[in-house]
This record gives sequence, C-alpha cells and structure tokens, in this order.
Amino acid sequence: MGGDLKTMVIRPLTTDDLGALVALEAANAPAPWSEGVFRNELAAENRIYLAADEEGVVGFAGAMLVADEAHVTNLLVDPAWRRRGIGFELMRSLIEAAVEAGARHLTLEVRSRNEAARALYARVGLAPVGVRQGYYGDDDALILWAHDIDGDEYLARLR
Ligand SMILES: CC(C)(COP(=O)(O)OP(=O)(O)OC[C@H]1O[C@@H](n2cnc3c(N)ncnc32)[C@H](O)[C@@H]1OP(=O)(O)O)[C@@H](O)C(=O)NCCC(=O)NCCS
Repeated sequence: MGGDLKTMVIRPLTTDDLGALVALEAANAPAPWSEGVFRNELAAENRIYLAADEEGVVGFAGAMLVADEAHVTNLLVDPAWRRRGIGFELMRSLIEAAVEAGARHLTLEVRSRNEAARALYARVGLAPVGVRQGYYGDDDALILWAHDIDGDEYLARLR
C-alpha cells in the first residue's frame, strides 16, 4: 500500500462499524445500502466482510459464498483515500479469505461505465464474460469472473 498509510489494517467488519458504513455508502454509492441491509449481511451465513481501518473505516469489501463461488457484494473506498492501494488490498484480502473458506471461483457485476472499478478488477484477474443490458437502469452490468482462484498461479499474482 502507499507509504503514507501508516496504521492501515484490514480486519473483519462488525456491527460496531454500522454507523461508519452507512455514512460512507450514503455519501458515495449510487444505490446506498441501508443500515438494515448491512446488519442483515453481517449476520448472514457464508459472508465475508472486511474493513480497511485507518483510525476509522475508510473502505470495506464483502462477498457471499455460494458452493465454490465467491460473489463480491460490495466494495467502496472513501474518495479521500482512493488511489493508495486500499481497494486492491481489500480485494486481495477478500479473495484470500474466500479461498480459505473453500471458494474456487470469483464473480461480480460492475457498471460498464465504472472505469476505476473495472481497472481494479482487471488487476485481480476478473474478466468480463457477459452483459446485463440496462441492469442498473442508467447503465449496463458487466458480469466478471475469475476461475481457479485457489491455484498457486492465481494467488501468486495477487502478491
Ligand atoms: C473502485 C475503488 C474501490 C478503487 O479503490 P482504490 O482504493 O482507489 O483502488 P486502488 O488504489 O487499490 O487501485 C488499484 C488499481 O486499480 C486501478 N484503479 C483504481 N482507481 C482507478 C481510476 N480512478 N482510474 C483508473 N484506474 C484505477 C489502477 O490500476 C490501480 O492501480 P494504480 O493506482 O497502481 O494505477 C474506488 O474507486 C471506489 O470506491 N469507487 C466507488 C465504489 C465502486 O465503484 N465500487 C465497485 C462497485 S462494483
């Protein structure tokens, strides 16, 4: 990560983080998750939710595990903290935790016009395999997959 991130840790999200999560989402997500959605996700089975914590939550990422697939449910970095490697670290930690939990494949949907996220996802080996036209109303969804994420070759490229 960037040299100015002195005390950054990636750690599991807890319900103590709900206030920070709701504020981050409300200010920065096109369709923000409510506190209820966060609460349900944190309580649900087969989920991994991680915080990037630099004296407070500055980003988070989540995934749902379905059989041997990890579906990324959300990823956000506070605009004031972007382009310092936090999004990548969150994805790397999420993927490593998913593999630890038995995932072999990784998938998600992303807005076709979301160039920052698409570039980050390409860095972790996610490739587009399909399009859901008009999925977001004002934009299409690209469906991305990375396979064999439990293989040495894939995990090595994350490091
Ligand atoms: C997408 C997002 C999480 C990236 O977070 P970040 O902490 O800025 O990402 P990083 O600093 O780890 O960037 C890693 C790489 O991703 C790519 N990337 C990130 N932001 C980019 C941008 N704005 N333009 C182009 N490439 C970008 C680059 O390859 C970057 O590596 P580099 O900085 O060495 O060039 C952040 O922009 C964000 O929260 N966006 C809004 C929420 C969102 O779109 N979530 C995804 C929903 S599917």
